[in-house]
Amino acid sequence: MKVELHGVTKRFGGQTVLNRITSTIEFPHTLALIGPSGGGKSTFLRLLAGLIAPDAGTITIDGEPIPGESPALRRYRARIGIVFQAFNLFPHLSALDNIRLALTEVHGLSPSMATTRAMDALARFQLADHAHKRPATLSGGQRQRVAIARAIAIQPKFLLFDEPTSSLDPEMTAEVLELLATLRSENRTMILVTHEMGFARHTADLVAFISGGSIEEVDAPERIFGEAKNPTVRNFLARVLRY
Ligand SMILES: Nc1ncnc2c1ncn2[C@@H]1O[C@H](COP(=O)(O)OP(=O)(O)OP(=O)(O)O)[C@@H](O)[C@H]1O
Ligand SMILES: [Mg+2]
Repeated sequence: MKVELHGVTKRFGGQTVLNRITSTIEFPHTLALIGPSGGGKSTFLRLLAGLIAPDAGTITIDGEPIPGESPALRRYRARIGIVFQAFNLFPHLSALDNIRLALTEVHGLSPSMATTRAMDALARFQLADHAHKRPATLSGGQRQRVAIARAIAIQPKFLLFDEPTSSLDPEMTAEVLELLATLRSENRTMILVTHEMGFARHTADLVAFISGGSIEEVDAPERIFGEAKNPTVRNFLARVLRY
């Protein structure tokens, strides 16, 4: 996947959250985004998802600009699987219906085809027994796996994850990271914001460090974690890896 940014700026109110980013990021399968809190990682991911638009600049993905206007923008969004930190699922719908919803409403599948596709996705992630439960009666790890199953079920071009494990305890975190590693081994294209440095190091093909509204460094994980050129990156990693 090749992500090209030309002068990308995003402001909220008076605050410039991403500041004239120009960068070409090319990776075979998995890109990890790391960096300090408030640095702009989630904003960057939401731009890639087409959920928000830049105030200036353009983003192209594999040579195609992210469309600025619907219906092209709606079609673009519909082909991306997105999983956020928490509160992903509709609380009033079962796991199955959470997955079926986009399939029938956005992708135009018939109800029976949507059920088959959703059940297949649940079964793949050992969730078939939980199909009829609402999110409140699932564990946090199961909930996130349902959210991932939903993202996969739409047969996305690529997947975006924003700290999918940060609201989970260590065992559930491991459960979700194992699932992400499985997706990685299937050579799916994913971009992942993560605080799990071990996971970024061992699973990502490429790591981008975002801080203060800029992409400060993009490199292979062994170089970012072993010999980062940028002192901001080195200081950040020294702090987060100390404990
Ligand atoms: N919708 C919004 N309205 C106003 N300010 C926002 C909005 N979204 C993000 N910001 C601000 O933009 C900056 C970057 O936020 P962002 O969520 O992208 O950071 P982040 O790197 O994902 O941080 P974290 O690691 O804590 O999730 C922050 O200062 C944040 O307060
Ligand atoms: Mg964030």
